[in-house]
Amino acid sequence: MERTLSIIKPDAVSKGVMGKIIDRFEREGLKIVAMKMVKLTKEEAKAFYSVHRDKPFFDSLTDFMSSGPVVVMVLEGEKAIERNREIMGATNPKDAAPGTLRHQFATDVEKNAVHGSDAPETAQREIAFFFSEQELVRLT
Ligand code: PPS
Repeated sequence: MERTLSIIKPDAVSKGVMGKIIDRFEREGLKIVAMKMVKLTKEEAKAFYSVHRDKPFFDSLTDFMSSGPVVVMVLEGEKAIERNREIMGATNPKDAAPGTLRHQFATDVEKNAVHGSDAPETAQREIAFFFSEQELVRLT
């Protein structure tokens, strides 16, 4: 069993498609073991995306991620990290395959509807950024 952090980004929340995104994860068999809605401050967004601090898009990305509420979730399942990334599709919706969440719901490379951890170490850091151990439910 593996866990990954998923974020429904401000564009998807404001479009009113968070239910559809959650439904997709559930239909794919990924279990939600923690979930909350938060509005990040600019400082929190900068801390979350600190690995990208030197990228040209850092300021714009962190402005966007703190522009409105997001839904943060921990998804659990076999190969959850890889499966979530398959379900999300490519970062840029122009490259995202039909049937993926970003193909369905993203607007551009910034307003791209969802975030998912890219590796086990990243998942661990990102889950701990939002949730304490006590907030993660045990399914068994
Ligand atoms: S990189 O450079 O390969 O490490 O970046 P990448 O993995 O493609 O993207 C990392 C996150 O940055 C967002 N991103 C952007 N935001 C705004 N403008 C531009 N041009 C841009 N390019 C990438 C991208 O959506 C990723 O967000 P997350 O939340 O990690 O999916």
